[in-house]
Amino acid sequence: MMKIISDNEISKAAECIRNGGLVAFPTETVYGLGANALNPIAVAGIFNAKKRPNFDPLIVHISNLNQIETLFAHPINDAVYKLAERFWPGPLTIVHRKSAIVPSIVTSDLDAVAVRMPSHPIAQQLISEAGVPVAAPSANRFGQLSPTSYKHVIKQNMEIDYLIKGDDRTKAVGIESTVVAVENGVCTVLRPGVITADEIRKCIPDFEVLTPEKNIKLISPGLLQSHYSPLKPLFYYDETTVLPLNSGVVLHKKENDKVYSEKTIFTSETGNLVEVAANLFSSLHKMEEDEEVKEIYIAKTSEIGIGQAIMDRLNKATFQYRK
Ligand code: TXA
Ligand code: MG
Repeated sequence: MMKIISDNEISKAAECIRNGGLVAFPTETVYGLGANALNPIAVAGIFNAKKRPNFDPLIVHISNLNQIETLFAHPINDAVYKLAERFWPGPLTIVHRKSAIVPSIVTSDLDAVAVRMPSHPIAQQLISEAGVPVAAPSANRFGQLSPTSYKHVIKQNMEIDYLIKGDDRTKAVGIESTVVAVENGVCTVLRPGVITADEIRKCIPDFEVLTPEKNIKLISPGLLQSHYSPLKPLFYYDETTVLPLNSGVVLHKKENDKVYSEKTIFTSETGNLVEVAANLFSSLHKMEEDEEVKEIYIAKTSEIGIGQAIMDRLNKATFQYRK
């Protein structure tokens, strides 16, 4: 049975991780489902709870920069330190050649491991009290919407030991971290996020920073065409869409003199993309939970800056329902 606890009981959850258990916890991006990254049996529990295929590697979460010294193979690329100094703790995941202590189940047999230091205080305290690096994918069943509230985690009905309730800071970012792979002289953005390729370029000007389209050889395993999907059909919406009865609409900007249907949710009233990202998954969860809504329609955003990450998630979420 899953125990739901508050941030005054983090020590229990940390002990559970040390003993090989599974703990769902808030981060500033989405909820993670964590286990001791150095214990392959505990990590197998994550794949089992999520029904996640084993070709999809996990991100290892740390609370202290020194932990990269044991997780990454030496010599550690200079860019790692520059990126860490600028963006950690925060929504950036760095993929780098791994050391021998990282079990192969964590990386799906790849010789590189993904590492992130989250900024959410509950995540930080959990990892630091556990005293071990914490492997954690998003705390949803494979392919479904990422959770940005503890209630979204409950809905997944997974076999886990503890769920730590987050607060308002939980969905500050709202979509998963930017994932970058660092090699000699080249840094490839494997998954777009709110930290953009341009910001990465500014931080490591000596590196060639490639976006995924430019370096298809290096496409990350686990980045599938269909992902992040609600359990109801999801389609794109534009001005020409004729809405069927019982449809819900998700928009990103409110226009003054317009009349909207009752089942309209705004991720932002002003089209602010930081807000759109922060409210994206929670809006889709609301539509998923509304029994009167049979089909969901969502507007596109621009593909510039953070818009690239938002459209990446939406293209995957709508993929299986494309006509
Ligand atoms: O914001 C986040 O990153 C959240 C929170 C919980 O930290 N985590 C998350 O994990 O989104 P997940 O499992 O849903 O996505 C991890 C993705 C994998 O699907 C894969 O694309 C990439 O990160 N990844 C992990 N390890 C990798 C590796 N060794 N090489 C290349 N890509 C890797
Ligand atoms: Mg995920």
